[in-house]
This record gives sequence, structure tokens and C-alpha cells, in this order.
Amino acid sequence: MNTLLSMQNMEKSYESVKALDKVCFEVAEGEVHALIGANGAGKSTLMKVLCGELEFENGTIVFDSEPIHRLKAHDIREKGIIMIRQELCVIPVLTVAQYLFVGREPMKGHIIDDKRMAEQAVELLNSVGMSFAPDTLMGDLSMAEQQLVEIAKALSYKVRLLILDEPTTALGESEVERVFSVIRSLKARGVSIIYISHRLDELFTISERITVMRDGRYIATLDTASTDKNELVRLLAGHELKTERKMSGTVDVHAPEILRIENLSAESGVKNVSFSLRRERF
Ligand SMILES: Nc1ncnc2c1ncn2[C@@H]1O[C@H](COP(=O)(O)OP(=O)(O)O)[C@@H](O)[C@H]1O
Ligand SMILES: [Mg+2]
Repeated sequence: MNTLLSMQNMEKSYESVKALDKVCFEVAEGEVHALIGANGAGKSTLMKVLCGELEFENGTIVFDSEPIHRLKAHDIREKGIIMIRQELCVIPVLTVAQYLFVGREPMKGHIIDDKRMAEQAVELLNSVGMSFAPDTLMGDLSMAEQQLVEIAKALSYKVRLLILDEPTTALGESEVERVFSVIRSLKARGVSIIYISHRLDELFTISERITVMRDGRYIATLDTASTDKNELVRLLAGHELKTERKMSGTVDVHAPEILRIENLSAESGVKNVSFSLRRERF
């Protein structure tokens, strides 16, 4: 396996917070490499530093055998390192076609060739399994659709390393499958992928290796095929999780109830959840 990206001893602080503490991270050519860690572990910071969006104090970044750690965001993009950000910032008043080609519209003389732009937009949308009209407004799309448009846009650049920062957080099952099929076809073209997700099950479907970060530090890199969810959870948490204490079989109904939730529903997707919590008797 040839190494495509090597980040060594990366250090970055936000005032008093050490977001990256000598982090090392490597990605091979054509691999899907998952990057995981609890919220605040430093994953997004590591990727923003890689993409030239954030300054850092120390460390080296070598891409395709060339140092790139002093390059500007634009030059890094030119090298084919493209990131789909966790915080999308789409422009709601643009049509999908305008958004896909903003700043590089196909021209006919001095005017934008709308017809060609629409055709190229349809092709790009098809490549991520989407088929809505290219004159749909970005603001009228769901978060999931915006995410897929963003991925389609990334595909229209020369891409050698695609970074997906928690892409599936807002996606439903069929949309996740679309993202996965895009990842598989990119991989078949030799593109490397850095895949950040907190859904551990996904990693076993899509990744070949997994790097774990915790509190701004590098913890481990594992072959996906030779690890399991328990090991990942242990590495993420940094200590053995206590196995559940076996209940004696019957619930002590006389113990005082300290919390009761009945038929709770919320917009976040929770539906009709009820439970009751009793003080434990020793
Ligand atoms: N712009 C910022 N200003 C100050 N602190 C930040 C900023 N962005 C991230 N942090 C802090 O840096 C740490 C790493 O954050 P982040 O890279 O976003 O983690 P992750 O993506 O793994 O959730 C966290 O402690 C976070 O609070
Ligand atoms: Mg993040």
C-alpha cells in the first residue's frame, strides 16, 4: 500500500484548548480510512488543518510525496484534496446548477451557457443518484439532498482524497446507501477517502482502516477486518466500560421511583418513549 497522505506530530491550540496534541495520521492510496473519536476529539480540526483552512503550530503534512503544510486552501484543493464539511454552508438563493458551477460556469462568449450548465448539472446529480431538476433552489432541498449536491460538486473537481466529515448525520438509510455507492465508485477509481462518522456500524461496511482519536491525541489505527465494536468503544472511551451489573431478575417495585417519562415524543425523532427509573437498593 502506497502512502498518499502523511500527517506527523500535528499540534494546534485554540487559546487554552489543545485541539491537536502531536497527532499522526496516514492514509494509503485508494483506501477508505475512517476517523473516529468522541465530540471534541479533534477530528474536524485535523481535517481543517490538512485543508489549509486553519493555521497550526507544529507538524508536517506530506501528500503524494510532497510537503504541503504551508500551502493555502486553494492550492490544496488544486492538489485534489476536497472536503465535504460538517457544517454545510450552501447558498439558498442559488439553483442547484448555479451552486454546482459557481465561479466556473460554462460560457458562451461572454454569457453563461445556461443550457450546458443545466446538462452538466444533471450528469453530476445522476452520479450521486439524484434526479431533481437543476433549476431547483438550494434552499428548497432537504439537508440530506444538500449534502448529496455537495458531494456531487466535489466529484466535479479533480479529486484524489475526499474527506467526508460526518456526512451521514442528517441522512436516512437510502441516502446513506447513495453516499456509500459514491464512495465505492471513487475507491474503484483509486481515490482515497477519509470518512468521519460516529455511527460505528457504518465503519464496518465501508472502511478498511480506522484511526481513533481522543482528547486531541492519536490513539490507534486498526484494520477494520480485525477489530470489533467493543474494541472501538473501549478505545474511544479510554477505559474498560463496566459490564452491566446483572439484575437479580425481578425489579424491586418498592424502591422509590426517582424519574418517570411517559409517551415522550420530540422532533429529533424520539417517539412515544416511556420509562421509569427507581433508586437501586443495595
Ligand atoms: N473555532 C474554535 N475555537 C475554539 N475552540 C474550538 C474551535 N473549534 C474547535 N474547538 C475545540 O477544539 C476541540 C476539538 O474540536 P473538533 O476538532 O471540532 O472536534 P471533533 O470534530 O472531533 O468533534 C474541542 O475541544 C473544541 O471545543
Ligand atoms: Mg467535528
